[in-house]
Amino acid sequence: MKKILVIGSMNLDFVTSVPHMPRVGETVLAQGLELVPGGKGANQAYAIGRLGGRAAMLGCLGQDSFGDRLLENLGKAGVDTRGVERRGEASTSMAVIGVDPQGDNSILVLPGANGLVDRAMVDRHLDLLEGCDILAMQLEIPLDTVAYAAKKAKELGKTVVLDPAPAVPDLPEELYPCLDLIKPNETELSILTGRPFSLETLGDSARLLRQRGARNVLVTLGAEGSYLLEEDGRETRIPGDKTVQAVDTTAAGDSYLAGVCVALSQGKDLPQAAALASAVASLVVTRRGAQTSIPDREEAQALLQQLDP
Ligand code: RIB
Repeated sequence: MKKILVIGSMNLDFVTSVPHMPRVGETVLAQGLELVPGGKGANQAYAIGRLGGRAAMLGCLGQDSFGDRLLENLGKAGVDTRGVERRGEASTSMAVIGVDPQGDNSILVLPGANGLVDRAMVDRHLDLLEGCDILAMQLEIPLDTVAYAAKKAKELGKTVVLDPAPAVPDLPEELYPCLDLIKPNETELSILTGRPFSLETLGDSARLLRQRGARNVLVTLGAEGSYLLEEDGRETRIPGDKTVQAVDTTAAGDSYLAGVCVALSQGKDLPQAAALASAVASLVVTRRGAQTSIPDREEAQALLQQLDP
């Protein structure tokens, strides 16, 4: 099975329930507080491990108890953590997450040690990049590092997958040609392209990312499933499961990307990978928290068998 390296963020999430998201200037009384291992990068690595993939993580933690907890949790999913550095200059990154009764969330990230993931760190762990087949990244670490690692990975002939979250309108032009797959959700697609999102114009927006150089584009559409535009121009709609009762959508996108990477590492094609990823994300939204909501190996096996009997 191919190896997957995740370069990215690691956060301890402070999760609370809110009756609705606060508007500007509004104070809202929240209920309960849970501390849950999270961070888009760590969630992806953890989910890859839990889904039976071979994952390694490159990221940064502070020398504090939050960092201990995040590292320990990755170990439980069998993630290779040789690329996780413990540094004294910053605290472990944190996120404050409000979840509303519909299961939607609002997230504030305090970057902390994630900001220390720089070019030099990628160079220090070049063996991990050289030894992987697939590189997965997101945008909670410095953009310069993402662009640098993507270029290096491409030069080494790796498959490069980007989850452009949180999205920025000015993703460096030179990054797109390094991407074998970009996986925005509707909002991120709209930010990247500068066009309002609609199902009617979805294909045009995805084609714009292809014109910028990304080889394949996979857009997640929540309960509507996902949309895939492949390099040969083929378009596929992967239906969502509309019967799912979402409790908390945190980490759904991260687990989706993990599902795609695991399926690709097992030799599946992109439509098959998207189908597995959708099934994984549908399960994740029925549970609270980030890494606490990710299926274990048995559940993942059952999903895989269902899709590929
Ligand atoms: O995608 C969910 C994640 O976003 C949370 O775990 C939080 O830490 C933020 O990074």
